[in-house]
Amino acid sequence: MQDRPEQIVLVIDFGAQYSQLIARRVRECGVYCELVPFDTPLDEIRAMKPAGLIFSGGPPSVYEDGAPTVDPAIYDGGSVPILGICYGMQLMARQLGGEVQPSSEREWGKTPISLEARSPLTQGLATELEGWMSHGDRVESAPEGFEVLACSPNSPVAAMGSDERRIYAVQFHPEVTHTPWGTTVLRNFLFRICDCEPTWTMGSFLEQEVGNIRKRVGDAHVICGLSGGVDSAVAAALVHRAIGDQLTCIFVNHGLLRKDEPEMVRRTFADHFHAPLVYADVQDRFLELLAGVDDPETKRRIIGNEFVRTFEREARKLGEINYLVQGTLYPDVIESGAGKAQTIKTHHNVGGLPDDMQFELIEPLRWLFKDEVRKLGVELGLPEEMIWRHPFPGPGLAVRILGEITRERLDLLREADAIFMDELVKAGLYREMAQAFAVLPNIRSVGVMGDRRTYAHVVIIRAVTTEDFMTADWARLPYEVLERISNRIVNEVQGVNRVAYDITSKPPGTIEWE
Ligand code: XMP
Repeated sequence: MQDRPEQIVLVIDFGAQYSQLIARRVRECGVYCELVPFDTPLDEIRAMKPAGLIFSGGPPSVYEDGAPTVDPAIYDGGSVPILGICYGMQLMARQLGGEVQPSSEREWGKTPISLEARSPLTQGLATELEGWMSHGDRVESAPEGFEVLACSPNSPVAAMGSDERRIYAVQFHPEVTHTPWGTTVLRNFLFRICDCEPTWTMGSFLEQEVGNIRKRVGDAHVICGLSGGVDSAVAAALVHRAIGDQLTCIFVNHGLLRKDEPEMVRRTFADHFHAPLVYADVQDRFLELLAGVDDPETKRRIIGNEFVRTFEREARKLGEINYLVQGTLYPDVIESGAGKAQTIKTHHNVGGLPDDMQFELIEPLRWLFKDEVRKLGVELGLPEEMIWRHPFPGPGLAVRILGEITRERLDLLREADAIFMDELVKAGLYREMAQAFAVLPNIRSVGVMGDRRTYAHVVIIRAVTTEDFMTADWARLPYEVLERISNRIVNEVQGVNRVAYDITSKPPGTIEWE
C-alpha cells in the first residue's frame, strides 16, 4: 500500500451519486480527500488520522430497510470534526437524538435557503441564498446542543451545527455547481473548523509519489505497457521520474491503432522519457488471427488474448521483472468496491492480463481523478496533444469496424477518423468532446459523383460529451463543422460516398458501436 498524504479528509460514502464529487471539491480546495465505504470499521477510520469527516448523501430515507448507518461512537470525543450532507445530515440527526420525518413534499432542485444563525460553517454567506436540494425525509428538530443554522420552505432545519462538538450538517448539496456558494461552505469546514492547510497540489503529490516508488522498488526493474492514452503515459512518466532507466516501457502495435498513432507514441516517448522502449510490431499476426471474424465478442477475445501473449513474450525477453506499472484511476478503484475487486479492473486496464501473472502492481494514479491525471501530466512536462487525447478502447479500431477487419477497411477508417479529428481541432471543439471517432459499418450505399452512380462505403461519425462515460449525450456539433467533415471525408477518402452523424445518447446506445 502506498503512503497517503499526512493531512487527509475522509468522505464516509453512503452510496450517493455525488460522493465522488465531494472528494473532488475538497481536493480542489487543496486538501487531500478519499472515500471510504460507510461500513469501514471505526478503528480503521481513526487509524487514518483524518482531519475531518464528511458524511455523503445516500438512499432516500433513514427508515428504509437496511439503510446504511455508522457506529455512533464516531461522534464521541469531538476530536475529528464532521460535516453531514443530505442523508448524512438525517442519519446524524437521528443518531444524536433529533427528529427526522418523512415529508409530504420533496424538495428537489433549486431551493431558497435562509440563514438563521451565524456559525463558522456559514461565514461569508449572504442570508438569503439558493441551493440545490434533493430529499424526501427532513429533519424536524435538531439534536440537543445543536443550533439551527438555516431553513428552507420545506426544511425547518436546512443546516445545523454544534460549535462545541465541531459537528455540522446541511440538507443542501454544497458539492454541486447548482449551489454556487457551496465551495464557501466546504472551505469554511476545511479551514475554519478542521484547521486544514491548503497544501495538496499536483507538485506535492508528484514529490510524494516519486518518494514512495523509489522506496518500494529499490534497484529492481519495472515494466509498463504504453497504450498511447493519457493514463499509461502519465503513469510511465511518473515512474520514470522516480527510477529512470530501471523502467522499460512496452508498446504493442496490434495494427488497430489510429492514423499516425505508433509514430506519435514513439516520438513523444523519445522526446519526453529518454527511457528504454520496446516496440512490438505485431500487426500481421493480429490481422491473420482476425481474418474472417465478424462477431464482436470473438474479436475482443482474440485481441485480448494475443495482446497478453505479446506482452508476456516481450516482458520475458527482459529477464527477471517483478513490477508492472498500471494507469488505474481512482474512479476504477471506487467502482470496483474499494479493496475487493481492484485487481479485476486493473487487469482490464492493460487488456486483460491473466490472474496468474507474476507481477506486483505499481499504480501511482490510483488516488487520482482523470482531470487530476491531466494536471499531473502537465506537471511532468508531457505534451498537450498527449494529455488531451480522447480515450481509445483496448481493442482499438476493431470495435469500430463492423464486420470483417481487413487492411483496406482499417486504412479507410483511419483516414476518415483523422479528417474528423482535424476538423474538430480546427473548430476548437476537440477538447469539448469527451470522445469523438469515426465508425465503418458493413453496408454500402448508392450515390452519385460526377454524373456517375457510385456504390460505396458509409462512414458514421460519433461525438459525445460525458463526465464519467457511464452515460453520455451526443454532441450538438455546429452544422458548418459537420458539413466540412462530411465534404472532406467524401472527397478525400476513396471508396466513401456518404457520411452519417450518430445522434444516439447512452443509454440506450453505448459510446462504441461494438
Ligand atoms: P461504451 O461503448 O461501453 O464505452 O459506452 C465506454 C468507454 O469505454 C471504452 N471502451 C473500452 N475500453 N476496452 C477498453 O479498454 C474495451 O473493450 C472497451 N469498450 C469500450 C469506450 O471507448 C468508452 O470510452
